[in-house]
Amino acid sequence: MKLCVLGLGYIGLPTAVMFAKHGLQVHGVDVSEIVVKKLQNKELHIEEPGLYEMFAEVTDSGAFTVSQEPVHADAYIIAVPTPINKNKTSNLDYVRSATEMIVPYVQEGNLVVLESTSPPKTVENIMLPVLEKTGLKFGEELFVSHSPERVLPGKLFEELVSNDRIVGGINEESSNRTVELYRTFVKGEIHVTDATTAEMVKLMENTYRDVNIAFANELARIAEEVGFNVWEAIKLANCHPRVNIHMPGPGVGGHCIAVDPWFIVEAAPEQAKLTTLSRKINDETPHNIVNIVKNIVGEIAKPKVSVFGLSFKGNIDDMRESPSLEIIEDLVNIGYDVSIYDPHILSSYPNKVDTLEEAVDNSDCVVILTDHNEYKEIDYTQIKEKMSTPNIIDTRNILNKEVLQEAGFDVFLVGDKSIRNSLLAK
Ligand SMILES: NC(=O)c1ccc[n+]([C@@H]2O[C@H](COP(=O)([O-])OP(=O)(O)OC[C@H]3O[C@@H](n4cnc5c(N)ncnc54)[C@H](O)[C@@H]3O)[C@@H](O)[C@H]2O)c1
Repeated sequence: MKLCVLGLGYIGLPTAVMFAKHGLQVHGVDVSEIVVKKLQNKELHIEEPGLYEMFAEVTDSGAFTVSQEPVHADAYIIAVPTPINKNKTSNLDYVRSATEMIVPYVQEGNLVVLESTSPPKTVENIMLPVLEKTGLKFGEELFVSHSPERVLPGKLFEELVSNDRIVGGINEESSNRTVELYRTFVKGEIHVTDATTAEMVKLMENTYRDVNIAFANELARIAEEVGFNVWEAIKLANCHPRVNIHMPGPGVGGHCIAVDPWFIVEAAPEQAKLTTLSRKINDETPHNIVNIVKNIVGEIAKPKVSVFGLSFKGNIDDMRESPSLEIIEDLVNIGYDVSIYDPHILSSYPNKVDTLEEAVDNSDCVVILTDHNEYKEIDYTQIKEKMSTPNIIDTRNILNKEVLQEAGFDVFLVGDKSIRNSLLAK
């Protein structure tokens, strides 16, 4: 069986490689010349544990090839970006253009699967009108489905195999053929539904998490106002067998949770009241963190702030929609000297430095924004020696407050009375 995968990013590339590893002949397509050149030179443009080994193996064996143009195949998987525009509406240009790209290659009996996270009715209203140009009869000569990807970057290969999958075809035969395709490696259950329900399932999963995090962030602000430790309170509340409150932090980032709820809002703005409010709360959170920083270093002349963490969550290199970006922009705009340290981001970024030493040299405040393991393992006593004023703000609750206080730091934990005390001290 021959498979063609369009979009060789965080989702498409591991998926393509996985199919190739399990016996399919796979051709990967990406519109980016940089991505294609790198892959053709056997180099990766993304970080994912285990990816390089598998990619090198299937490339060497000839089971996986890459180019900028599609080829004839039995099945097509589309895993292209589905971002939001500045006005929070969905941008489906990539889905549309990827679908257009395969039209000249699609033949009778083919299957087309959209994996990209998409607003409800994307298959029906965006893909099918384009695929009509093939002249093939939907559900009889051409089969189309949506099967959203739900894996966690960093644990992708494990989850590709073990996660349950949702498959929503435009008809029963489309679903059956899609199930058969993913059975190649999926060991989790494969649940069959229609395309629109499958689109909504993925959006509902991420919106549930966004709403839950908004609640946690609201509780953090309440804790700072009232004077208690929200982390301890959440831990204790979660001892209840039917409670699962998520963790607060510097905001919500990533390509999924910060984006997908807007697809629901766009589809039904009048009805999506809680979804809209939660998005607003989470979007406000980076500015809350900036206010905390201002409060702590505001009286120092031209303070230096060391930001730890550009990626939106720990131990990954993905900084899309990361709240760090907004926090850094605000701090720079205020006029602070900002120095960023993130060992997971290898590309350059304004104000990013290569070493921890450079980042903390003469600093007045370390702000932990991402829970990378490296930040937990730092010897903060040594860091203190290099800093001008030993302030630390922990937005992720990853540091041992007592140890740091003993070392002479002023430690401020987001969602804790230490934030309130800092306000009262001014
Ligand atoms: N990254 C995640 O953790 C994750 C998890 C679940 C679902 N998703 C969803 O999967 C989809 C893909 O996300 P990603 O993280 O892999 O994106 P990505 O940006 O890492 O990769 C997408 C790739 O598609 C390429 N592309 C754009 N238009 C194309 C076209 N017409 N033909 C071929 N290639 C094209 C881009 O050049 C890019 O390399 C999105 O809808 C996303 O929401 C992502």
